[in-house]
Amino acid sequence: MTAILAIETSCDETAAAVVTDGRTIRSNIVASQVDLHAQYGGVFPELASRAHAETISAVVERAMREADMTYADLDAIAVTQGPGLIGSLLVGVNFAKGLALATGLPLLGINHLEGHVYSLWLAPDFSEPEFPILALIVSGGHSELLIMRDHGVYKRIGGTIDDAAGEAFDKVGRLLGLPFPGGPAIERAAQSGAHDAYDFPRAKTAGAYDLSFSGLKTAVLRAVARQPSASGQGRRQRRAEKRAELRDDINISDVAAAFQDALTDALMTTSCRAARDFDVNAVYLAGGVSANRLLREKLSAALALPVRYPPLWLCTDNAAMIAAAAYFRFHAGHRSPLDFEARASWRLSEDVYAD
Ligand code: KG4
Ligand code: ZN
Repeated sequence: MTAILAIETSCDETAAAVVTDGRTIRSNIVASQVDLHAQYGGVFPELASRAHAETISAVVERAMREADMTYADLDAIAVTQGPGLIGSLLVGVNFAKGLALATGLPLLGINHLEGHVYSLWLAPDFSEPEFPILALIVSGGHSELLIMRDHGVYKRIGGTIDDAAGEAFDKVGRLLGLPFPGGPAIERAAQSGAHDAYDFPRAKTAGAYDLSFSGLKTAVLRAVARQPSASGQGRRQRRAEKRAELRDDINISDVAAAFQDALTDALMTTSCRAARDFDVNAVYLAGGVSANRLLREKLSAALALPVRYPPLWLCTDNAAMIAAAAYFRFHAGHRSPLDFEARASWRLSEDVYAD
């Protein structure tokens, strides 16, 4: 049996988990900072790292206790090395280094996006895929299309050229006065809305597998803001988004439904094109936005291939997915030196751990 303790602090969740054999979750603790950041309508980096520092030791202790394990029962310690907020990453990385030093256990710095992909391996009914597969990672920080040819072998074929899908949900949620994070709030509001009440744009981009959500966000802003001047570029646009007062005749549920429909359409069309062009055997959907039911339904309906996604509670950030990715890396011989550095930006590619 291989037991791995993983730590994840890349954004606003302080998380630790123990997973055995890459598939069995023995414990999975997620301390969310959502209440802390809700008042700002987004993640406040300095508050995030401070909160990580305050809670990490208790979260790791609890993960070990719930797994009913001691450090002597572990084979390795894994931690999210990047990408993410640098101050937040550093808290987890330094804590993991300290643990590795104290216990003598091997240490593995793991790419957060690879973790999202491997959250699929934790689904109770999971069976090994027949590669190649298309992985669509859609979260608050990323929207990436990857062709996965084997374990750990990725080719990035496209992704967003501006906002990430989750970021678009969060910004439109804020615009509509919905609670943070915007994704689940918009999904809820959309249930009672008419998706054809507005005809929002489905972005076209130059790259065949690229995505763009900033035009959609601006279209929503134009449709709902009281001030006709609430458009423009750069800082002026960002100010307008934050301050926009809604027109009186706006039905929030309709806007939410139409926005969700447009965004999921864009993800569906691009994914279908990629799946066909690269002749994949399955599509794996991961990241916070993969919790979205409409997205799941649209992809499943549009593709004749198996479309898989993680259980709802593993879509958003957690440490079990980091342990699942670390499991196969551990057996492939991957180890990180004790002086490895956290990486704020880090793309997933074939030679992801090469330098
Ligand atoms: O993967 P994640 O926890 O963090 C990052 O790595 O970024 O993703 C968080 C994002 C947020 O933007 C949130 O609004 C979005 O996932 N999200 C959703 C849903 N649940 C979470 N978006 C759409 N529909 C949902 N049900
Ligand atoms: Zn994430």
